[in-house]
Amino acid sequence: MCGIVGAVAQRDVVDILLEGLRRLEYRGYDSAGVAIINPEGQLQRLRRLGKVKELADAVAEEPTPGGTGIAHTRWATHGEPSEANAHPHVSSNITVVHNGIIENHEPLRKMLQDEGYVFTSATDTEVIAHLVQRERKNADSLLNAVQVAVKQLDGAYGTVLMDTNDPERVVVARSGSPLVIGLGIGENFIASDQLALLPVTRRFIFLEEGDVAEITRTSVRVFDKDGNAVDRPAHESNVSYDAGDKGGYRHFMLKEIHEQPDAVRSTLDGRLSEAGVLDQTFGTGATELFKQVKHIQIVACGTSYHAGMVARYWLESLAGVSCNVEIASEFRYRKSFVQPDSMIVTISQSGETADTLAALRLAKDLGYLGSLAICNVAGSSLVRESDLAFMTRAGAEIGVASTKAFTTQLVGFAMLTMALGKYHGLADDEQQGMSVALKQLPEKLEATLTLAEQIEALAEEFADKQHALFLGRGDQYPIAMEGALKLKEISYIHAEAYAAGELKHGPLALIDADMPIIVVAPNNDLLEKLKSNVEEVRARGGILYVFADAEANFQSDDTMRVINVPHTNPWLAPILYTLPLQLLSYYVAIIKGTDVDQPRNLAKSVTVE
Ligand code: M6R
Repeated sequence: MCGIVGAVAQRDVVDILLEGLRRLEYRGYDSAGVAIINPEGQLQRLRRLGKVKELADAVAEEPTPGGTGIAHTRWATHGEPSEANAHPHVSSNITVVHNGIIENHEPLRKMLQDEGYVFTSATDTEVIAHLVQRERKNADSLLNAVQVAVKQLDGAYGTVLMDTNDPERVVVARSGSPLVIGLGIGENFIASDQLALLPVTRRFIFLEEGDVAEITRTSVRVFDKDGNAVDRPAHESNVSYDAGDKGGYRHFMLKEIHEQPDAVRSTLDGRLSEAGVLDQTFGTGATELFKQVKHIQIVACGTSYHAGMVARYWLESLAGVSCNVEIASEFRYRKSFVQPDSMIVTISQSGETADTLAALRLAKDLGYLGSLAICNVAGSSLVRESDLAFMTRAGAEIGVASTKAFTTQLVGFAMLTMALGKYHGLADDEQQGMSVALKQLPEKLEATLTLAEQIEALAEEFADKQHALFLGRGDQYPIAMEGALKLKEISYIHAEAYAAGELKHGPLALIDADMPIIVVAPNNDLLEKLKSNVEEVRARGGILYVFADAEANFQSDDTMRVINVPHTNPWLAPILYTLPLQLLSYYVAIIKGTDVDQPRNLAKSVTVE
C-alpha cells in the first residue's frame, strides 16, 4: 500500500528519498512522486505513473538539490492511477503526502471549492493540502496549522507536510496509518515503515495514534492528540533488510519460501524447555492471563486468518480451550458476544493491517481479559497496543504473498496451544512429545523443500487452467484455503477451497477434466474420510493432484498425480503441507509470467479498510 519517506538534512536528500521508496516498493503501488525544497526555497516536484525507476529516471534528467523533501508511492483509492493523482499534492506553499483515506473528503472538498481553492486531482489527499493552507493563514506555524486541520479530518492518515515559506522543517501527523521518525546526527527522517530508512539510521521513534510532530535537522517535537508535548522513546532497530538482496533467488517469494526452515528455527529458539513452552515467550503477565483464560477469540485477515483457523483446531482439541475465529473486517462491524474469561488474539505479519488493528481496539472496549498479538514486526501498532505479544522471527517478508510469516505464525500458535494447555489439562508427557515434534520441524521443512523440482514440473499442467479446487479436511482445510489464496494471488487463476466433506453439497457439479483438484492428505485421523472424497471426484472425471504422506498409500495413475510429503507428527502437518502449495503457486505464476513479488492490485500491508 502507499509508502512515505521524508527528510530534513543539510545534504541533498533526493537519493535518500528514492532509495526509501525502492525499499517500500514491495508494499504495492501504482505511481510515485517526490518534492524537494531547493536551496532557493522553491519547490521542485516530479511525479510518474508506474515504478519508482521511472521517477528515478526523471530525477536523473532534472537534478533536484535540497535538504528538505518528501516522497511517496501511491496505491490508488480515490482517483485512478495517474500522474495527476500521484503524490505529493500542492496547495500554493504547502506540499503533502498521505497514506490512508480521508472519509469526509467530499464535504471538505465542497467547502474548500466554495472558498475558491482549485483542485487538480481526484484524490482525497488534496483536501489536506488545501485545508492546511487555509489554516496556515491564521496559524503562527505549520505545526499549529496541521494541528487545527487534522481535527477536521475523519478517517485514516499518516501524512507529512512541508511549507516552502518555512523550508527547514516538516510536520507529520498520524491517525490510523503508521509513521516512524528516523533519528540521524544533524538530520532527521520520517517514513511509513522503518525499512525505508535503514540505510540512514537505526534509531526510531514510533508515533502513537493522534500524534502530530515537527521535525527539523536537529529537533523532534511530538504532541499528542490533545496538543500536549509528549516524550516518545527512541528504539534501536535490529531489523535487517537489503532491498536488492534476493539471495540468488529469482524472486523474494522463492527466497522466503526457502527461508522457512531457518525462520521456524529462530522462532523456536530459546522458547522451549524440556518440559514445554516458556510462558515469558508471550510477554510479562502471560502466566496470570493464561491461567484464567477459558476462551480465545482470534481475529485476522487473509493468510493470517488462515493461521487462526488452524489454531482453532489445535486450541480446542489439544489445549482444551474453546475458540472462535473471525475475519477482522467482519468482527469490527458486528455486535459480538464476549464469552466469559476470553482473551483476544490478533495475528498479523505487518502489525499494521487496518481492520485487524481496529478489531483489537474494539475488543479492548468489550471486556476481554487481555490481548495477545502474534506478529512479525516489532514496534508495530498491533504489538504496542496489545497486552502480550509473540514475535514470529521470520525476518522481513518482502513478497506480497505471505509465506514464511504464515508458517511462523503457525509455530506461534503451536506454542500457544502448549502454553495454554499446561493450565487446562494437557499432560506433561504430551507437552514433552509436542516439544520434540516442534524441534524436529525445521528439518522436516528442509526435506519438504526438496520437492521443488517435482512441483515445478507439475506446475506445467496448471498454466492453461482457469480454475482450481483445493480440498482438505480438519486442520488441513485452512491449508487448502491458504493454497487457493496463494494461487489466486500470484497466478491470477481462480481457486476455491472446500472442506472435502462439503463436496457433495454443491461443488461436485464443477468437476470435469478442466478443473484440477489439489488435495492435502497427511496420514491423520481423517485420512480414510478424505480418501472417500477423492474417489467421489475421481468417479466424475476430475484430475487430482494429491500431496500425501507415503504411508497414506495413494498411487499415481492417469487421473491422479501423487507427491509424497515427508512423514511428520500429524499435529504439525498443516505447517509442512503449506510448503508444496506455496511452491505450486510460485511455479504456476512463473509459467504465466505474472509479477510474483508485486501481484497486480495488491499491497503488502493493507493499512486502509
Ligand atoms: O500483515 P497481515 O498479516 O495483517 O496481512 C493480512 C493480509 O493482508 C495478508 O495475509 C494477505 O492476505 C497476504 N497477501 C496473503 O498472501
